[in-house]
Amino acid sequence: MNYEEITEVRSLDKQVGNTVTVAGWAESIRSHGKVGFLVLRDGTGLVQGVLLKNELSDEEWELIDSITQESSVSLTGEVREEARAPGGFEISVTGLNLIGSSDGYPIQPKEHGVEFLLDHRHLWLRSSSQRSALRVRHEVEQAIHDFFYERDFVRIDTPILTGAIGESVGTLFELNYFEESAYLAQTGQLYVEAACPAFRKVYCFGPTFRAEKSKTRRHLTEFWMIEPEVAFANSNDNMILQEKFICYIVDRVLERCKPELQQLGRDTSELEAIAIPFARISYTESVELLKDKGSEIEWGSDLGAPDEMLLADQFDRPVFVHDYPKSVKAFYMKENPSDPRTVLCNDLLVQGYGELIGGSQREDNIDLLLARIREENLPEEAYDWYLDLRRYGTFIHSGFGLGLERTVAWITGRSHIRELIPFPRLMNRLSP
Ligand code: 4AD
Ligand code: MG
Repeated sequence: MNYEEITEVRSLDKQVGNTVTVAGWAESIRSHGKVGFLVLRDGTGLVQGVLLKNELSDEEWELIDSITQESSVSLTGEVREEARAPGGFEISVTGLNLIGSSDGYPIQPKEHGVEFLLDHRHLWLRSSSQRSALRVRHEVEQAIHDFFYERDFVRIDTPILTGAIGESVGTLFELNYFEESAYLAQTGQLYVEAACPAFRKVYCFGPTFRAEKSKTRRHLTEFWMIEPEVAFANSNDNMILQEKFICYIVDRVLERCKPELQQLGRDTSELEAIAIPFARISYTESVELLKDKGSEIEWGSDLGAPDEMLLADQFDRPVFVHDYPKSVKAFYMKENPSDPRTVLCNDLLVQGYGELIGGSQREDNIDLLLARIREENLPEEAYDWYLDLRRYGTFIHSGFGLGLERTVAWITGRSHIRELIPFPRLMNRLSP
């Protein structure tokens, strides 16, 4: 069996009446008397093989007993349309080959505990819900690249090993780098800021790392983030880009992933209703609203997950919360000239999930930036190069970071972020 001779299941619609060979893994197999049915998954789709005793050699017919869930097999036979079969096609099998057996496959068609499934993540990936979720992730990643490509952004790959703390000291992974300390990147932002004067509109898309010591459904220790940065854009322009970006991604998934969303049981009406403009509310107004709704939040503290959820529920579309207190946000955000207790920033909150995006206008005044670095007790020397961006042609600029897994969790309606990355890294999980 040559690679070239194997037909992909997704293209069987063009092969009706022809004899083809398909290869993949047995999702299910059953036989009674002189007839058997094998549902084969090849990664591009499902097809049912119909096995008739009188169409097969004795050896082939006997093979059926050794084919179990997840055995790898190839089937040869004529393709027929069959509306009732999974995938809509059947193959009348005249050649059957067992490639690799699969005895005692751990994941059975029944309820398993989530820790068990995570321990078997290398196998769990094959399950239909996981395939659907990761296919949506793939589509979202492609949509992200297309969005920025269509708008002439240049992709900048930022370092994973860094010497400057990107966000905050609390969640750093620190490691030995020869004689020095290095950190795993919490963000690529400082580096895309540096690339702005070279290319004006840039973005990075890579893994980022945070030593999150809490176990929540929204936190991974390794997650993927998309961070655009735009020269001469202010905080308002930044929010406009974010809402266009979210709508673009959602539209793409609705256009190309309907079967996956359906398989996951996602009610798409909420996604279909999403439109520009998103709601906007300042942090200060949010605190008042939250207090009215029974929250104990006081001005000056960060919104916790329950506050974010409660707030998002007050709107029928995603909502920007803007201009948070300086004290709860990172050092690089621009002081708000009309209220210096706050910074020009925004989070984007969505229903059922809370924060998908954190963004801000950056502090372009070197004195204010330096003061913030000192206030936060960050090592000044490590930021010397970053301060150069304010020494040599400073400029208004803004950007944001979208968490990929949270976005895909929200779009697919999965509650826990761990299913939206192929191999999740959590506080208690480094394997598989
Ligand atoms: O709000 P954050 O910390 O913003 C930044 O990192 C900025 N440097 C972005 C920028 O302006 N260029 O993180 C951005 C997003 C969050 O809104 C969230 O979606 C996601 O990254 N995120 C996480 N996702 C999964 N697990 C975690 N531990 C996450 N921490 C943040
Ligand atoms: Mg944030």
